[in-house]
Amino acid sequence: MPRLEVRNLVRRFNGRPVVDHVSLSIQPGQVTCLLGPSGCGKSTTLRIIAGVERQETGEVLLDGKLISGDGRDLPPERRGIGLMFQDFALFPHLSVADNVAFGLRSGSREERRARVEELLHRVDLLRFIDSYPHELSGGEQQRVALARAIAPRPRIMLMDEPFSGLDNRLRDGIRDETLDLLKAEDAAVLLVTHEPDEAMRMADEIALMRQGRIVQRGAPYTVYTRPADRAAVSFFSDTNVIRAEVNGALATTVFGRFLAPGVPDGTAVEIVFRPQHVRIDFDRNGRGPLPTPRDGVAARGLVERSRFMGHESLVEFRMDHDGMLLKATVPGVFMPKPGKPMWLTIPREKCFVFPA
Ligand SMILES: Nc1ncnc2c1ncn2[C@@H]1O[C@H](COP(=O)(O)OP(=O)(O)OP(=O)(O)O)[C@@H](O)[C@H]1O
Ligand SMILES: [Mg+2]
Repeated sequence: MPRLEVRNLVRRFNGRPVVDHVSLSIQPGQVTCLLGPSGCGKSTTLRIIAGVERQETGEVLLDGKLISGDGRDLPPERRGIGLMFQDFALFPHLSVADNVAFGLRSGSREERRARVEELLHRVDLLRFIDSYPHELSGGEQQRVALARAIAPRPRIMLMDEPFSGLDNRLRDGIRDETLDLLKAEDAAVLLVTHEPDEAMRMADEIALMRQGRIVQRGAPYTVYTRPADRAAVSFFSDTNVIRAEVNGALATTVFGRFLAPGVPDGTAVEIVFRPQHVRIDFDRNGRGPLPTPRDGVAARGLVERSRFMGHESLVEFRMDHDGMLLKATVPGVFMPKPGKPMWLTIPREKCFVFPA
């Protein structure tokens, strides 16, 4: 049975649906990332689950028990839900120990103290137990906030961009620690982010959200390699798009033919692929590589510009046949001069064909 189940949540603001029939379910010990662009309704969804915002229709269930919807509405503090937001404000006048102990109501003094010590040890901050928040760095405060949120053993943890205030290096470490801790506690985690990297790194399942709707759910690998639509591709990376028309279940382009099974004749399609999948070849006296069944036909372009990005190089090509720009990324240093002719091929298994 899922720890958290959300069915058909709907919430409108000024007549506009901001959460539009959202359904989700999360098992204990599982992390689902609600991923989507700014304003798509992620925080509103989280707030409804937490009980600080009301849905118009739809239900929220905790371990199969209705906690909200259908006339029921358990107050936030009785939902057994832990919250962690970007602005996680610790209580400045309480010590680290008292901050972490804040949500602990049951148990003896000794038991509560033991729990506080256990958690501070887990986030590697036991030495700060008697310090005050202002004596800690931002990252340390964040870990205290995490310990505080986890202390009462929430069955569900809702996190809204909890790592966005941290610098990159710190963030990776804290993300991993957070995950370990939450998995050890067997909580169901719903983490909101607009950063694909964060979702890929943390999620067991990604729920891709757009304009109030969940457009795709799946493991990070699935969402990345089998995106539901063009926007789902471009949410995770830069993309190239070429247009074509389908005839006999094939879309014919300067790069050869692409399979478009089940697409009716005459349909305009977009063939979408990522820059890292473009294959680059040198020009051999005006000729490129020979066609292959797997990669189709090569097409020629001139280097428009090359940029070194650190772990990879980005090269843009102005294509001979239609003057359009295509992007390719190559690991390491590769910076051909502008104007240099090169040949591009597009491996078929890395392409997505969507109706335009
Ligand atoms: N109380 C409110 N009254 C009116 N409109 C609201 C209210 N709360 C949210 N909205 C609107 O609902 C939409 C979704 O807001 P929400 O905060 O859920 O987005 P989000 O996905 O969390 O975005 P971000 O990534 O920027 O945090 C926005 O257009 C926002 O302006
Ligand atoms: Mg938000």
